[in-house]
Amino acid sequence: MTSATAWTADANEALSLSLVRAPEDKASLWSREVYEGFHPTYTYPIFGEEEKIYGYKDLSVQLKFASGSLAQFLHVRYSERLPSSSAVDEIEPTLSKFLAPDYLTDEKEFLERVEHDATHFKPYGEKIYSYTRAGTTLPKGKNVSIPQVLGPDDEETVDFEVYHSTWKTPGFREYHRRMQLFVLLYIEGGSLISEDEETWEFAVLYEKRRRRSSPDVFTYHFVGYSTLYPFYCFPERVRLRISQFLVLPPYQQDGHGSALYTAIYEHVLAQPRIAELTVEDPAEAFEDLRDRNDLKMLLANEKFMREGFGPEAISSNGGKVGGVGRKARGGKARSIRAGAGKMGPPAERSWLEKWRTDLKIAGRQFHRLVEMLILRNMD
Ligand code: ACO
Repeated sequence: MTSATAWTADANEALSLSLVRAPEDKASLWSREVYEGFHPTYTYPIFGEEEKIYGYKDLSVQLKFASGSLAQFLHVRYSERLPSSSAVDEIEPTLSKFLAPDYLTDEKEFLERVEHDATHFKPYGEKIYSYTRAGTTLPKGKNVSIPQVLGPDDEETVDFEVYHSTWKTPGFREYHRRMQLFVLLYIEGGSLISEDEETWEFAVLYEKRRRRSSPDVFTYHFVGYSTLYPFYCFPERVRLRISQFLVLPPYQQDGHGSALYTAIYEHVLAQPRIAELTVEDPAEAFEDLRDRNDLKMLLANEKFMREGFGPEAISSNGGKVGGVGRKARGGKARSIRAGAGKMGPPAERSWLEKWRTDLKIAGRQFHRLVEMLILRNMD
């Protein structure tokens, strides 16, 4: 090992994140150690393209967040450090540029803050969506049998809530400064949004827990969030674009991303001012999530499926997409080109366009979905 590598740490390994709950709120199944010590996927926006930190041995950079209020605590530990004259990377000055101005470095103070915030923190903005999950769901990869884990007081169900806010929501601007770092750490190519652009909107997802000692008190724990940007849409509406979207690792692969997406979509449907929902440069995992949820929504829409893909669609001979799909099976395929605005003859196009505008789905995405349904229908 060269001396340079001995003093070089992988920044993604060295940095570890924790969502810290008050001791009383830790006992439940969902709040075990899996919420502590998870790592970022990317650190290049902070520590440079190589994602390395030079100048330390046994480096550990702990960044802890109060689970709800996201109050931050930074602690840097190492066994040895090269003298500052040797181009050592300065960790706190580098990282602190990305932290909220009020981050803490005193652990006692942080833990007091966690305890205080546990009962005082309430989500900002307006609740737009909620769902309930079985409280016995085990985090993935944990080989623990339920009776060993569940205490007598563990809840059978856990509530989750999504809140909508804007920069104008009192306190939200400061709150956003504590969460925006997650975008850099988890979204490839993610960048911080400008606080000067007034029109940003936000959807934040929380786990909501009843306190054991005082069952009428609820505690809220940050799960993930999305930033949304409204673009003008002629003549007097907006097209809402999902710009950033993330669920923190401890909560991933458990349907919460789908729930947050559904919350945003239902919000869009309910708001007359919004013409459609679009997505900015989606990552592959997000594209999958979107397709899965959009398809589920279309399949559950009886009228749409009956008109487009049911027996009526065949008898009306070509008026609807299902007729086309089924004809294709019989060998007389009519070409359907998603995204090109050439979905068959005018009757078919206007039928599709009516549904697309009613469902507020962006054109390219809607045509992809219809193609997927046609293929599914042909199987
Ligand atoms: N049990 C087991 N698996 C489940 C469950 C469940 N109860 N519910 C869903 N799943 C599976 C889904 O089938 C899906 O499987 P797949 O990966 O094989 O398709 C997978 O879990 C993911 O679905 P969700 O759980 O609904 O989504 P998740 O909460 O994991 O969020 C997301 C997905 C947002 C991409 C998350 O991984 C993330 O934040 N990643 C990092 C940031 C990122 O890439 N964001 C998107 C950038 S693009 C943009 O911002 C526009």
